[in-house]
Amino acid sequence: MSDTAETKLYEPPAALAGQAHVSGRAAYDKLVAEAEADYEGYWARLARELVTWKTPFTQVLDQSDAPFFKWFADGTLNVSYNCLDRNIERGLGDKTAIVFEADDGAVTKVTYSELLARVGKLANALKARGVKKGDRVVIYMPMSIEGVVAMQACARIGATHSVVFGGFSAQSLRDRIEDAGAVMVITADEQARGGKHLPLKSIVDEALAMPGTGSIKDVIVYKRTGGNIAWKDGRDLWLHELSAAAPEHCEPEWVGAEHPLFLLYTSGSTGKPKGVQHSTGGYLLHAALTTKWTFDLKPDDVFWCTADIGWVTGHTYITYGPLALGGTEIVFEGVPTYPDAGRFWKMIERHKVTIFYTAPTAIRSLIKAAEANDAVHPKSFDLSSLRILGSVGEPINPAAWEWYHLHVGGGRCPIVDTFWQTETGGHMITPLPGATTLVPGSCTLPFPGITAAIVDETGNDVPNGQGGILVVKKPWPSMIRTIYGDPERFKKSYYPPELKGYYLAGDGAIRDEKTGYFTITGRIDDVLNVSGHRMGTMEIESALVSCTDLVAEAAVVGRPDETTGEAICAFVVLKRPRPTGDEAKAIAKQLRDWVGKEIGPIAKPKDIRFGDNLPKTRSGKIMRRLLRSLAKGEAITQDTSTLENPAILDQLAQTN
Ligand code: WTA
Repeated sequence: MSDTAETKLYEPPAALAGQAHVSGRAAYDKLVAEAEADYEGYWARLARELVTWKTPFTQVLDQSDAPFFKWFADGTLNVSYNCLDRNIERGLGDKTAIVFEADDGAVTKVTYSELLARVGKLANALKARGVKKGDRVVIYMPMSIEGVVAMQACARIGATHSVVFGGFSAQSLRDRIEDAGAVMVITADEQARGGKHLPLKSIVDEALAMPGTGSIKDVIVYKRTGGNIAWKDGRDLWLHELSAAAPEHCEPEWVGAEHPLFLLYTSGSTGKPKGVQHSTGGYLLHAALTTKWTFDLKPDDVFWCTADIGWVTGHTYITYGPLALGGTEIVFEGVPTYPDAGRFWKMIERHKVTIFYTAPTAIRSLIKAAEANDAVHPKSFDLSSLRILGSVGEPINPAAWEWYHLHVGGGRCPIVDTFWQTETGGHMITPLPGATTLVPGSCTLPFPGITAAIVDETGNDVPNGQGGILVVKKPWPSMIRTIYGDPERFKKSYYPPELKGYYLAGDGAIRDEKTGYFTITGRIDDVLNVSGHRMGTMEIESALVSCTDLVAEAAVVGRPDETTGEAICAFVVLKRPRPTGDEAKAIAKQLRDWVGKEIGPIAKPKDIRFGDNLPKTRSGKIMRRLLRSLAKGEAITQDTSTLENPAILDQLAQTN
């Protein structure tokens, strides 16, 4: 299958278009026009329709302290009330909220009433341990009902959660705990993934033994596997014991719309990961609205987002969006390739999933497996329950799109290719399944009300057909509010003065000349996207050079990879003579393990090349564009006249 085949168009299926929440292109255009005519009125209408407020708001958008925008600021609400109590009051108490499938295939279901009881108990337990409104709680949990409960319990009492992905190392966990000044960690003894038990609690112990974590008073532990763990009396508490002792009813803490619901750390182009701070009211609105319109979620749907709750996709499209709408969703503990690469298809068949949302990397790796083995090919499963497919996290190449459409969606399910970011809180540019004609590889058009545009370096619009910088012209309800503890970095990263007050996404994009459809061309900063995970090149470089016994200097770039989208490629100068052969291999492995320990396994460089030096200009600046070409295996065609040491290029062109 080739990515250069003639572009095909896919109209929304008539039956779906006829009954969708946003039904037909004219309905989409009407919403866009409504937002254009009265921007605040549009968002206010939706905020009243989708969110239940304790105190209704009277202000909509407050721009007085731009770019620190406020939405619905004088309204009060509670997110957990909106996701749980409100659905029960509407008669959905006995409806299944979550179907949990464990790594080993065991299934547990909870109804909305049961979920509320569990959230209430943990919320009361947190309060009893002294956690107060505004305190930060770090959640380092496996994919589980308890993970969702922990997030919702924080929301219930107005504590700000900061979920750290279970694949991050003790060092990364420590950094996030310190930056957030968290008072508590909620974790599990271990996690079960791909038939193995992997540690969590012992990593928390390791992190808390490091300096800078003195703010943590308690560690709450969910018993998942019953594996052996160390225990620190007076600090460590079992979740089941605390919950058993706590009452079910917990009055929600009514907070202002701008109250920080969560921090989520993500990589930027410079320095350490930044704590993206999200609000309560505006965030909940967009989580609910995008789940409703982009996925056309209906009462009978079974929604499955395969992301981890450690990433923003898991926040918005597992913990908050589907529950705010009273939906039924799947939470999956394991990995797509265990016990075999048919796991996703088997689960869709088993649970009669109707809406399936996953990442291109997963699709690409499952294509390879399916092409090699019919038993794990989607055709060997009954996927007829599916009606809508989604893609997120990285560009989806047309060949993978076509395969997903044909083999998973049976040619009848629209694919919503959703472009968005940790900072945007929810979808920004995406098709709506009953309204948008699809073009494989394009995320199509802005979500109604989102003023996405493409500009040049000075903020002027560029014509369609000409690439440029992706911006959002007007503030929107679910946008990042600040970088926790660093408002200056927030301004500098997202609102550079030359861009006329537009939000800078950090991606390049181009619009089709005729249709105006957007295609994302990739990051324009030093952020890599490996399997849909964001990594800063600087972060990986700092991890490498912190191996002070070995490494003198390191530069990291990305190169295209068929499966993971991008792969991490590190060029390293050692404090000893340049190694070759087996020695080079051994040191490369040692460095990969080191990076795994410093950041997490997802940051391990795929390629490591050693040189006596790096290509530098006479003023000592590393010429990264040359490294990018070397990483790709391309001949160097760029001008190298400013290079101090041209001979180094031949050396670095060698792989080991
Ligand atoms: C990339 C994930 C192309 C983009 C929700 C963005 C995409 C970064 C798409 C954010 C898409 C996300 N097409 N690229 N549909 N979705 N990206 O913060 O580079 O983990 O800036 O949020 O992923 O990654 P993040």
